Amino acid sequence: MPDAPAPARLTLGGDLAVNRLGFGAMRITSPGIWGPPADEAAAIALLRRVVERGVNFIDTADSYGPGVSERLIAEALHPYPSGLVIATKGGLLRPGPDRWVADCRPEHLRQVCEDSLKRLRLDRIDLYQLHAVDHRVPIEESVGALRELQRQGKIRHLGVSNVSGPELARARQAADIVSVQNHYNLTDRSSDTLVDACAAAGIAFIPWYPLAAGRLTRHESALAQIAERHRATPAQIALAWLLHRSPTTLPIPGTTSIAHFEENLAAAAIRLDADELRQLAR
Ligand SMILES: NC(=O)c1ccc[n+]([C@@H]2O[C@H](COP(=O)([O-])OP(=O)(O)OC[C@H]3O[C@@H](n4cnc5c(N)ncnc54)[C@H](OP(=O)(O)O)[C@@H]3O)[C@@H](O)[C@H]2O)c1
Repeated sequence: MPDAPAPARLTLGGDLAVNRLGFGAMRITSPGIWGPPADEAAAIALLRRVVERGVNFIDTADSYGPGVSERLIAEALHPYPSGLVIATKGGLLRPGPDRWVADCRPEHLRQVCEDSLKRLRLDRIDLYQLHAVDHRVPIEESVGALRELQRQGKIRHLGVSNVSGPELARARQAADIVSVQNHYNLTDRSSDTLVDACAAAGIAFIPWYPLAAGRLTRHESALAQIAERHRATPAQIALAWLLHRSPTTLPIPGTTSIAHFEENLAAAAIRLDADELRQLAR
């Protein structure tokens, strides 16, 4: 694990420079990630605040709402400021609240990419991620369909999500992959090998559930002690750890609250030393 300060920016696909703390826009919908939020004006104010504070990477998906997160992003931020990267995803159907079913058939991906372009009011999506692997469809076919959309100018860069190492290798044979988005945080390191592989290949690793859906905000053991030393919160230390973990991690904490967003953003300024990193890694 590096002892050096975490770099503040990374470049996606060689040409999109983004600040390394992004924003996850899944939770601006309703519980179950189903339907519009109770207070749309508050969700719009939050998105505007995110961009005002310099965050220039927002993660969303067609399935958040479904359609709600993308619609609110466009309502809040279109016309988009230059340099703002909106990363969306396709490949999951939503039969109901909290239900997610993979559909990564090429014809489905072509349709949902068109729908996202319309909802986001874009001619081209900067980063389009295959949301999951559909075990009925070879990943080469799904990624191949996205590569074709990229060739048509509808997608700038391609990413994958919820993949294993071998699946990433197969996807990379089919197209140029610039990001991987997997479940990863201080308490779930099942993607450790992929984090390192992405750093070695210059691919962004976007850890979802960076705060373990809020559980890493509680005061526990090493996290609490280190937080106290930095006069920070456990959530901030959990995010700072992700930023130190590799030079290509790009955490996307999600929140419905401007206060929590500000708290999370401040984590980017925290420098952890080698001892602290060792303590947290135990
Ligand atoms: N690729 C995938 O399959 C996948 C799956 C899940 C998520 N994602 C992406 O990853 C993003 C982040 O994941 P996530 O939202 O599920 O999990 P998360 O960022 O780990 O946690 C979000 C939860 O933590 C709470 N929280 C955030 N900041 C806090 C703070 N400073 N103090 C206390 N509580 C705080 C939020 O509640 P409040 O609203 O009260 O702040 C929310 O309930 C999503 O928005 C989405 O873009 C991707």
